[in-house]
Amino acid sequence: MTTQFQPKDETLRRIYSLTEKDMKECAAHLMIGGGTRGGPVLHHGKGVRVWDANGREYIDCTSQSWALYLGYCNQEIWGAINEHAQNMTHVHQGFDTLPRFALARRLAGIMPPGMSRVSFVPTSGLALEGCMKLALKNRPGSSHFMCLWDSYHGATLGTMGASWISTRSAGSYAGGSRFVPMTRQFVRAPNPYCYRCPFGLKSGSCNLMCARMLELTIQKGVNGPPAGLLIEPLQASGGQICFPKRYVEEVREICTKYEVPLIFDEIQTFARIGKWTAAEYFGVTPDFIGLGKAIGGGMPLGVTVVRDGLHGFEPDAEELHTFANNSLSQIGSLKMIDMIERDKLLDHVNRMGAYLNEGLLKLRREFPEMGDIRQVGLHIGVEFVKDPEGKEPLNDAAKRIRDEAMNRGAIFGLAGVRKNLLKVKPPLIVSQAECDEILRIFGETLRAVLR
Ligand SMILES: Cc1ncc(COP(=O)(O)O)c(C=O)c1O
Repeated sequence: MTTQFQPKDETLRRIYSLTEKDMKECAAHLMIGGGTRGGPVLHHGKGVRVWDANGREYIDCTSQSWALYLGYCNQEIWGAINEHAQNMTHVHQGFDTLPRFALARRLAGIMPPGMSRVSFVPTSGLALEGCMKLALKNRPGSSHFMCLWDSYHGATLGTMGASWISTRSAGSYAGGSRFVPMTRQFVRAPNPYCYRCPFGLKSGSCNLMCARMLELTIQKGVNGPPAGLLIEPLQASGGQICFPKRYVEEVREICTKYEVPLIFDEIQTFARIGKWTAAEYFGVTPDFIGLGKAIGGGMPLGVTVVRDGLHGFEPDAEELHTFANNSLSQIGSLKMIDMIERDKLLDHVNRMGAYLNEGLLKLRREFPEMGDIRQVGLHIGVEFVKDPEGKEPLNDAAKRIRDEAMNRGAIFGLAGVRKNLLKVKPPLIVSQAECDEILRIFGETLRAVLR
């Protein structure tokens, strides 16, 4: 093996001495419901880098499902978690603890003004379901939720019906479509995907047709008052699509006009876009925010945030989960937030994002197949096309580029809906020298695959 890791614990020692043959046997017992299998077996990581069981090194531009903001095995985060684990670990949510108090106040301090109450759950999907529960509670008599085309909000039974995986968005029905009898139908409105406007209009002179369609859908497409509109203000899995500011503002106005609770899914946008929230970035305050993924500093955690003046949860079995009060995740979150602030990482994210964008734009001079580069902070996607005018998607290229880059030591993410899109979303601590390395491998890979 390729690490200095010499565990003292007997169970750990057994795990870290598994052979290739053992791994094959183990794999036969394992079911995986998503992601691509058959890639490297990851063994250990540090900062933005990870090594596989054969000792190969990769620079990771996925932050492992965009969840490791401060990189692998961050010593300060895990130091705090380890220290706290000697004192307290999991607690029933009926008991208060100091970390839970501290995190509630800390989060209230970085959420948009007027959004000062939070509820903790074990995962992102549950955080959104918490938003949906509160939307229903605040909009009695409503029944149907709305979302946007190509959105992704999770694969729990409550969120799957809002995710593109339940539709034909990617060209054929995907996994979520098999569970329709158990999931809910969300009423969808068009997403503002300006690079390929579904109405054939041009950004700037379109009168925001997608906002008009949202309003018409509320008026004519939903039975009864909508229970809520769930949106990612920057769509991630749907194609790294940054919505126009005016569109997000109009969504707020429309929701207010029709009394539709507005839910922001900020599970990928939190801090990654160079502001604490997309709400702050757009200057638009929703009624609910769902946080997840990186929010636990690498530990599982979801957070439901509610606007002041709205009904929140009461201890009446409205929101009850065994692991809703995991103090280790809360410590991970608190430590990460402290470090983002202390190290001015939001500014760093904006600088590194702009630097990567500039490097990608330079590469586009050589590779016009990079049809659209969409970047806000370190929330970056590159959409590949046959030619920039025709914009015909280069569908299999993105996967070949992803695979070739992996051979060359960089891990990029493949988008969900759009098969021609690669995601570049390294941990927030990525340095300029590491950005240069990412751009170098990206360029070499494009030369190998496209030329
Ligand atoms: C925007 C967004 N919302 C919700 C989810 C669901 O998160 P989880 O799989 O952690 O429940 C994801 C996961 O990819 C996501 O990207």
